[in-house]
Formats: sequence, C-alpha cells, structure tokens
Amino acid sequence: MHKIILDTDPGIDDALAILLLATSSEIELKAITVTHGNTTVDKCLANAIQIADLAGIRNIPIAKGANQPLIGKLQIAEETHGDTGLGYAKLPPSNYPIHSNNASQLIVELVKKYPGEITILGIGPVTNIALALISNPEIKPLIKDVVLMAGSFEYAGNASPVAEYNVFCDPYALQVLINANLDLTIIPLDVTYQCLFTKEHLAELQNCKKDIYEFISDSTRFYMEFHQEYQNITGCAINDPLVVAYLLNRELLELMECYVEVNLHKGNFYGKTSADRFSTLGLAPNAKVATQVDVPAFMKLFIDRMHKL
Ligand code: RIB
Ligand code: CA
Repeated sequence: MHKIILDTDPGIDDALAILLLATSSEIELKAITVTHGNTTVDKCLANAIQIADLAGIRNIPIAKGANQPLIGKLQIAEETHGDTGLGYAKLPPSNYPIHSNNASQLIVELVKKYPGEITILGIGPVTNIALALISNPEIKPLIKDVVLMAGSFEYAGNASPVAEYNVFCDPYALQVLINANLDLTIIPLDVTYQCLFTKEHLAELQNCKKDIYEFISDSTRFYMEFHQEYQNITGCAINDPLVVAYLLNRELLELMECYVEVNLHKGNFYGKTSADRFSTLGLAPNAKVATQVDVPAFMKLFIDRMHKL
C-alpha cells in the first residue's frame, strides 16, 4: 500500500488524477496539498475540494499552499484550463473543511509521522514541496520517494519553446528538490504528450456515473479546444493521471537513471530541463526520467478505473 501526499494545482488533468486516485485501493491518500499554477491557489483550492466531493473523497486533509513561486511572478494558465481552472465544468460549491495548517507544514508533519513511508506526488509547480524541504531539511531522509509530472527533455516545451509548465512556473523549486538527494522520478512531456485523451475515449465513459461523465466531458472539451487551437493537437494530453497510474502499474513506464539539470538563467531557456543521457559529464545520476510509456495500457487503466467511481 502506497502512502501518498498529492501536491496539485487543479487544473483539468489534475482533477482527472484525483478521480483516478479515488478509485485506487492500492493507494492510501494521506493529504492533498494545493499550490498556485494552472490558476490562483485560491481557485485551485476551491477546485480541489469540489473535486474531492465529486470523487467521494472524505476525511483527507486538504491544505492551502503557496500562492506564488519561490522566485519570480505567478504564471497562471487560464487559456489552458479556463478562468475557473476546470474548463467548462461546473461543480457544486463545497463545504469540505480546509486543513488548519498550510501545505508545506502538513507535508513536514506527515513525513515525520510516517518516516520512510510517504511518496509525494507532485503534479503542479513544486513550490510547497520545496518550502517543506527548506523549512525542515531534516525530513529529506524520511521521504520514501518523490514522483513528479515535470519537465520536457527531448520534446518541446508547453510553457515556452523548451520549458514544461510546472517547471517554468517555479524552476528554483525543482532545483531545491534535485539538490535534496531524494529518490526522484520525473515523468515529463516526452511521455505524457503521447497520452492523448480523445472524443473516442470520452465516448467509452458514457456509462460512467452521470456526474463523473459530465465533469470529464465538460472539462476535457475546453482542454481539447486549447490543444487544437494552441498546439494543433487532436485530443488533450492527460499529463497528471499518468503519475498516479505509474504508482498503480510501474510497468507503464520505462525509466532512465541520469544526471538532470534545470536552467535557472533568465531568457528563452529559463526552466528548461536537461538530462545527460550518455553521462558525458560523468556526474552521478540524480533522478529517474521516464522515457517510454505503454499508451494503450495507460488509457485502458484510466478508462476502466473511471467506471469504478
Ligand atoms: O505541463 C503540464 C502540467 O502543467 C500539468 O500538471 C498541468 O496540470 C499543468 O499543471
Ligand atoms: Ca497540474
């Protein structure tokens, strides 16, 4: 059983990741921590509790986190996720209780409560995780592992010509995680952009629970329109659910252990992640980067699990 903390910026694909988490008896969700990203942290928090209600998640602490990156300005992506952060989807207001402590301190508290057992899934800018490591560096050896949807290595950027959005929002936070000598797995656009949810996949969900189907339909319709208009892609890349699916089936991904860096210099390459695939620098590996994905197996897992909600 994986004990996990999900750090997230819901966000349409984040919402799909939370729905997938809710179907997963293999995973013990210990907390949802919310960060700035796809929209403001307040809207992300409102989305997180509404999605928790939709998914039937109860009695899990949901905590508000950072409202901006460690360094630099807030970069929201409302063209991608809409002004609410959930596309065209409309969910009922929620009275799900917000945790009394902030996100980074909840991360510290849970990692100390479960030494060596917590996997942190990061599917947004990793500001909260970085703040936890900065404020309480003693937790580094207590974290079992960290799995991120982050970066683009041999693929294009989606936030700049070269940078992936979560990293572009807060590259200094990713640098903090890289420097922390964690068991760090990075699932980049190189594999997530092969996982395109299409109208045909949506049609396979028609006999799901009505509110689930309607949410997925209304949120991904906006997301598909963004992918078509801005990236000339049919369908929408469901980046974040792949991180959850990887915990459910490690065979979905092939990983490469290597030395990675993130570019912190302002300019056209700001936030670019690079991997020394052939160890040309002779530096010790500091991450595992996903290089291959079994797309049909992932899409089948996602579709099948949505029917369990
Ligand atoms: O680049 C894709 C990532 O940025 C996803 O996590 C998406 O939700 C956005 O946060
Ligand atoms: Ca996200």
